[in-house]
Amino acid sequence: MSHASAAQIVRELLEGPVTRPALLRWRRRQFLAKAGTSLYFGVFDSFAAARERLPPSPEFNNEQLATEYVEVRTRQVFAYDYPVMWWLERAFRGGATSVLDIGGSVGVHYHAYRRYFEMPSNLTWHIIEVPAMVSIGCALAAARGVKSLSFTDDLNRTISSADADIWLSAGALHYLEDARPADLLKRCFKQPMHLLLNKLPLCAGEDFVTTQNIGEGCFAPMHVFNGDRLIREVEAQGYTLRDRWKVYERSLYVPGHPERSFPFFTGLYFAGLANETR
Ligand SMILES: C[S@@+](CC[C@H](N)C(=O)[O-])C[C@H]1O[C@@H](n2cnc3c(N)ncnc32)[C@H](O)[C@@H]1O
Repeated sequence: MSHASAAQIVRELLEGPVTRPALLRWRRRQFLAKAGTSLYFGVFDSFAAARERLPPSPEFNNEQLATEYVEVRTRQVFAYDYPVMWWLERAFRGGATSVLDIGGSVGVHYHAYRRYFEMPSNLTWHIIEVPAMVSIGCALAAARGVKSLSFTDDLNRTISSADADIWLSAGALHYLEDARPADLLKRCFKQPMHLLLNKLPLCAGEDFVTTQNIGEGCFAPMHVFNGDRLIREVEAQGYTLRDRWKVYERSLYVPGHPERSFPFFTGLYFAGLANETR
């Protein structure tokens, strides 16, 4: 018997009817603890129902959450960034000059990726973020003498006037209550030629909402999307799925719900129809 299957059997036993209530109490205490950063808990129908079970917190709107992003992630890329950099660089070579980055933190992708490849001299890179990240991102851009970056915290207004060539969202759309990719595409002024979605929690079953301990005493609800449905919805907006990759650095374990848990998140690249031959 392999170690993996032994561990799986033990987990399945613990998730069984006799031990499940005790397991859930223990896992919930772990989830709420300071050391519980990144853990997930619960299955809910909506963000409102999920928030009722969370301690009050500003969710992502907390300056303390920016530290790692400023100090590490503006300087370093990770394995899951390479497919994004590959498609982004190709899009720039194909003439794209504008990026809309939803949940781009303090500008991490712009700052980190530009160390690896050239970006257009007339590039505009606009980030939609929570107010705390907007103010830190603006200050960081000014301190580093960066002119291409701009920030807003107004998703709805920005989407309704959006006309960027590229949309990028990494590890973020699932934290927004009302931001299914296809819905954003329906609401925007002009649809992008390229859509890059990284680190998304996609499952094979029904959509659901869970919650995450995001660190610094903050907690957030998040969507888990059915992958096939999300892809079909984007394709119905005139896009072709050109690439899909597994992000093993992110996985979902929902205590008490092994059937909702999965070992990797997903990255997707869609090209607009006008762009299919590139
Ligand atoms: C896990 S971080 C990912 C950051 C970055 N894209 C990356 O890949 O490292 C999720 C990001 O989504 C942002 N976010 C969460 N809710 C948001 C909202 N309602 N509007 C805009 N950004 C949001 C957070 O502030 C945070 O920067």
